Amino acid sequence: MGKILVIHGGAGAWRAEKLEKAEIILDKISSEGFEVLKNKGALDAVEYVIKRMEEDELFNAGRGSVLNLFGEIEMDAGIMLDEDNLGFVANVKNLLHPIVLARKVMEITDHIFLAGSGAELLGKYLGLRVDDHALRTKERENQWRTAIRALIQHMEVKDSYIKRIKQIYPKLLKIILNNEEILNVVRKRLSDGIYDTVGAVAFDGTSLVAGTSTGGIFMKFPGRIGDTPIIGAGTYARKNVGAASASGVGEQIIRAQLCLKVVERMKSISANEAVAMVLEEIASRRDLQAGVIAIDHKGNFGVAHTTKRFPVAVVTKNMKIVKSEW
Ligand code: GLY
Repeated sequence: MGKILVIHGGAGAWRAEKLEKAEIILDKISSEGFEVLKNKGALDAVEYVIKRMEEDELFNAGRGSVLNLFGEIEMDAGIMLDEDNLGFVANVKNLLHPIVLARKVMEITDHIFLAGSGAELLGKYLGLRVDDHALRTKERENQWRTAIRALIQHMEVKDSYIKRIKQIYPKLLKIILNNEEILNVVRKRLSDGIYDTVGAVAFDGTSLVAGTSTGGIFMKFPGRIGDTPIIGAGTYARKNVGAASASGVGEQIIRAQLCLKVVERMKSISANEAVAMVLEEIASRRDLQAGVIAIDHKGNFGVAHTTKRFPVAVVTKNMKIVKSEW
């Protein structure tokens, strides 16, 4: 059966100039990844392409991750082949490649999911630790400062980040604004100085693999975990059935169990039909700002999104598609 690789750079409202860059990068990375798929198989290919996207500051994963409310980077990642082969990490700092750590959790520990300081300790032991400054970019810092200033000035804001935070986290904002202790941490960080998760699915003729990596959502409360490392939400794969990776607002994707539903559907219908049907069904019942990529056991692919844009590259031996509206 034909080998196939599908990679995404995150669902969201991309600005035109960034989107153009993203498509060029996805084009290049997906071609490199397809070579890895041919020579080493689906697991290595998924890890390879996600590592490359984690290295590129354009994407919200690894270097260039968005900052949380306190101006810190906390990342999540996951990789999965089936119920017996899966690894997830959450709330990790100081790592350029959370996806590599997720794979290590799967391969060298007795666990499935590691979070926070323990996950970082394993990363350090494996030589994966990097300085926080290696992950931060000026653009993400400026985005954070603008939003925090606006927040502290009691949201007299036209700023679009705050508008988005208001929509996504209305309850959280109340807590922040009514809690002097939290506000003081935020103020102190300020005086010191959207969700574009990446993911991939691959099929090498035998194995189906899904992987996802993210800095999470901008201005999230410290400790918040999104959909990416939640099995069946942002990442899911089942042997001889299919693999799926999602991007978008984590809370909405977790509630919808998006990737699990897509993979379940692929038992009886193609990847293309499954992603369209599942997104439509969920979006008809509740808010869903998301994108999802999938491959079924026959090597068919599917891409669907409810966000404005979703840059995705699809590669097979005879075909290459790179586009952001599906
Ligand atoms: N989809 C990324 C997140 O919500 O964390």
